Amino acid sequence: MTKTATAAVLTATPSAPGLDDVIAAETRLSHVDGQAGELIIAGHRLADLAASSFEEVLALLWRDFLPEPMDAAAIRIALGKARQKTFDLMQPLLPGLRGLSPVEALRLLLSALPDDARAPHAVLAVAAVPVFTAAITRHAKGLAPVPPDASRGHSEDFLRMLRNEQSAPDKVRALDTYLVTVSDHGLNASTFTARVIASTKAGMFSSVVGGLCALKGPLHGGAPGPVLDMLDAIGSERNILPWLEDSLARGERLMGFGHRIYRVRDPRADVLKGAVAALQDGSGRIAFAARVEAEALRLLKEKKPLRPLETNVEFYTALVLEAVGFPRDSFTNVFAAGRMAGWTGHVLEQEQTGRLIRPQSRYIGVMPD
Ligand code: ACO
Repeated sequence: MTKTATAAVLTATPSAPGLDDVIAAETRLSHVDGQAGELIIAGHRLADLAASSFEEVLALLWRDFLPEPMDAAAIRIALGKARQKTFDLMQPLLPGLRGLSPVEALRLLLSALPDDARAPHAVLAVAAVPVFTAAITRHAKGLAPVPPDASRGHSEDFLRMLRNEQSAPDKVRALDTYLVTVSDHGLNASTFTARVIASTKAGMFSSVVGGLCALKGPLHGGAPGPVLDMLDAIGSERNILPWLEDSLARGERLMGFGHRIYRVRDPRADVLKGAVAALQDGSGRIAFAARVEAEALRLLKEKKPLRPLETNVEFYTALVLEAVGFPRDSFTNVFAAGRMAGWTGHVLEQEQTGRLIRPQSRYIGVMPD
């Protein structure tokens, strides 16, 4: 085709800002059906995976891509060793975190991991996020980091490094369910970013740091903190209805509701609602949140009849992470701890099967005379 003909074809091709509905990758890792409200991860419905450990889900996501096959038990051992390794790498960098937000601090620490590391990169990346997140949270309070214990499961050790004490089994289970629930979700913005970088053969850590940078934005991984802000602002039973009505009348969005892909209830919301209900924390927080949710759903139906707006993953994420003991400014980092499973899987898949991702742009500027 001549140059002029190519330009004409490109001009005629409809552009898709936001890439809505564009298929930009083929993957065996996960599938999101927004009409049916279904999430399939590595061949399993989320509801069926919810009782699995995070290590079991990692084994599913990585099974076709690791140089040596690893089952969940082998992954648990490898993650323990890799937590220790990343803890040692992190120590000298901690003074440099001053003044950074938790997610900026995580970005800095992850960037320090070399793309040519010898251990399986995916294992190191997944191991690193809890080690760094716990240390960042403690560092902000002037507390020393707690070294990992390689003999423990990943979620159990995450909470132990955060709180410097053993957490109750129901809290460990709730965190594990959370990490499984957010482990992968199709070609979301951060996963796409990681795949674009991986497609240039830049390497694992460059790719997942890019994923984290995309996750950081308030339109992607930044919503669960504001859900708690909303619950705090409502404050009491009798304020639920007036607060929600005022907020909607001002044209504001209710945090934890609506989704770009799901037109029905986000299946992750139900899994996390179950996880938080199992905690029975006795504070009344969860029952209060459920009443806010019911009222919000009723009002959204009434005020926005043409747009199905249902509860999304972030509403119950906020409650799970608060109940297991994370401060709200660390929620995006905990999201990254789970989503690292998917990012690493997609990077490995892209490296193995993909092609350089290089779309076109439509020039709308001035042409030379
Ligand atoms: N509360 C009130 N109204 C809403 C909400 C909401 N949470 N979400 C969408 N709407 C309304 C919009 O105001 C708009 O109404 P209008 O047509 O009368 O102007 C209509 O629904 C369509 O809105 P869009 O912006 O086209 O919806 P989109 O699909 O692009 O938005 C998003 C998805 C960003 C998640 C949105 O629902 C939102 O802002 N929700 C609140 C923030 C939140 O919970 N984010 C976490 C999402 S989950 C995740 O990213 C992991």
